[in-house]
Amino acid sequence: MDLNKNLGVDPDSIWVRPTSPGIIYKDLFIIGGEVSEVYGAAPGHIRAYDTRSGELVWTFHTIPHPGEDGYETWPPEAYKYVGGANNWGGMCLDEERGMVYAPLGSPTYDFYGSDRHGENLFGNSIVALDAATGERIWHFQTIHHDIWDYDLPAPPTLITLRQAGKDIDAVALPSKVGFLYVFDRVTGQPLFPIEERPVPTSRIPGEQSWPTQPFPLKPDPYARQYLTIRDLANRSPELHQEAIEKFQSLHYEGLFTPPDQQGTLLFPGTRGGSEWGGAAVDPYTGWLFINANESPEVATVRQSVSDRPAGQSDAAFGASLYSIHCSGCHGVKLEGGLADIPALNEVTTRLTPPELFTRIKEGNGRMPSFAHLPNEAIKALIVFLENGNIDEQVKRHETLSSTTNDFRNTTAYSFFNLSDGLQAIKPPWGTLHAIDLNSGEFKWSIPLGAHEGARQAGDTATGTYNYGGPIVTAGGLLIIAATKDEKMRIFNKTTGELIWEYTLPGPGYASPSTYMHDGRQYLVISVTQGKEQPEGSIIAFALP
Ligand code: HEC
Repeated sequence: MDLNKNLGVDPDSIWVRPTSPGIIYKDLFIIGGEVSEVYGAAPGHIRAYDTRSGELVWTFHTIPHPGEDGYETWPPEAYKYVGGANNWGGMCLDEERGMVYAPLGSPTYDFYGSDRHGENLFGNSIVALDAATGERIWHFQTIHHDIWDYDLPAPPTLITLRQAGKDIDAVALPSKVGFLYVFDRVTGQPLFPIEERPVPTSRIPGEQSWPTQPFPLKPDPYARQYLTIRDLANRSPELHQEAIEKFQSLHYEGLFTPPDQQGTLLFPGTRGGSEWGGAAVDPYTGWLFINANESPEVATVRQSVSDRPAGQSDAAFGASLYSIHCSGCHGVKLEGGLADIPALNEVTTRLTPPELFTRIKEGNGRMPSFAHLPNEAIKALIVFLENGNIDEQVKRHETLSSTTNDFRNTTAYSFFNLSDGLQAIKPPWGTLHAIDLNSGEFKWSIPLGAHEGARQAGDTATGTYNYGGPIVTAGGLLIIAATKDEKMRIFNKTTGELIWEYTLPGPGYASPSTYMHDGRQYLVISVTQGKEQPEGSIIAFALP
């Protein structure tokens, strides 16, 4: 099946990439996928195919067409050009009821919405669909008119909980902002109160940020959501001073501060809260286990140079394209980034121009595809990578200015870090929590992972960035890898006490699995490439 087809747009101008295994329901294969995050992205419609014939059976328009519910939350023509609102984090299925639950990402462009005024359903919503027909049964929008790239990042978790002496089949939805939303699985009724509260207003020309956002009152957020000077790193007096100066130079009014030209602090950040690993639940106790990142980032939304000025050289055009599309991940100076994003300053010694072309056009792993860029632009990028003048590149980045009226986040995904390369806030930078979902109360919270560099500088339980979720066993174990320190850990699920840890050959940026074979219990994890091990691997453990 060609996922680029049947979306109502030219299949050659877009890309759709499955990032989760999809759902099998009876004879249907139900799938979303990753799409571009910028202008010209494919719409994130959810599709179901017949598992025997491969025929398309139903489509749920995550960006509604005329006559469909939610269409009125967009400008009339938006469904023709807006993309995203896609399910890349995976779904879950209540097989007995025939209901599928799909959390969706932000509409495009991620950080500026002048061409999509309105609430933008079903962006950033969980939609409960009839698995047989794709008809919407209920939905809840967690963020209206998203301009922060706060995609819903993980499959929701099905759980039965007890409230007022009654068993309720529920669905719990993790997020990047650190809210856990809990709904009645059948009706979509929130099981703890959720309040619409006023939020800061955008100062960018053309933007109409939404005046309120939903705030769940329970459980408490599982990631820090607000920073003050007291939260800034104090690894040394000099670093503390640097942190204060940077903090004061940024625009920050708390959660949901709209990004603007000044440079805006986003917190918990696009990598904050949950990632795709999601949560684990213990059906015996009704407890939910969830890990989180604390990821302050800087967003600077400026008018962008997307067209090539007449007479501009390939290298100069490539440099401005690099600023807009690549520097957020690969670094302003091509130095590479977090979570093993490679440096590009010597990439032309490793890859030939045709290989570079394919890599940029099609993407690879966590490297997105840039199929929407014209070939001419990709060629200019390659010329830039071959002869890139880094000083000029840095200057351009700082002065990137207006020739067209579309705004882009020129510092998208860049960290609020200090000159020692570590976070500008005090640890913990990664955490693990147990929440009793019957009451909405936290049972325990601990830092997850340890950062060696920061430990040497005097911090102890730092926690680290973590990508990958936990699993929980009937025998009382909570098992998780996920951390940057390349450890796999087992905790006592009741107390959060560390029982066992093991150093993997690379970071285990995945959720583990456990299974029985011939009476023996195994535990298996997929390990990302690391220093010792360029290929990555799958590692299994067994009980004696
Ligand atoms: C969302 C983050 C992200 C963005 C944006 C991004 N990249 Fe990448 N890129 C990656 C990651 C991660 C890899 C490593 C992928 C892999 O091979 O697993 C990568 C790999 C590459 C490679 C291969 C490097 C090697 O040593 O094999 C090239 C070349 C590259 N990127 C160029 C670009 C260019 C040019 C742009 C902008 C048009 C860009 N990237 C934008 C994340 C990103």
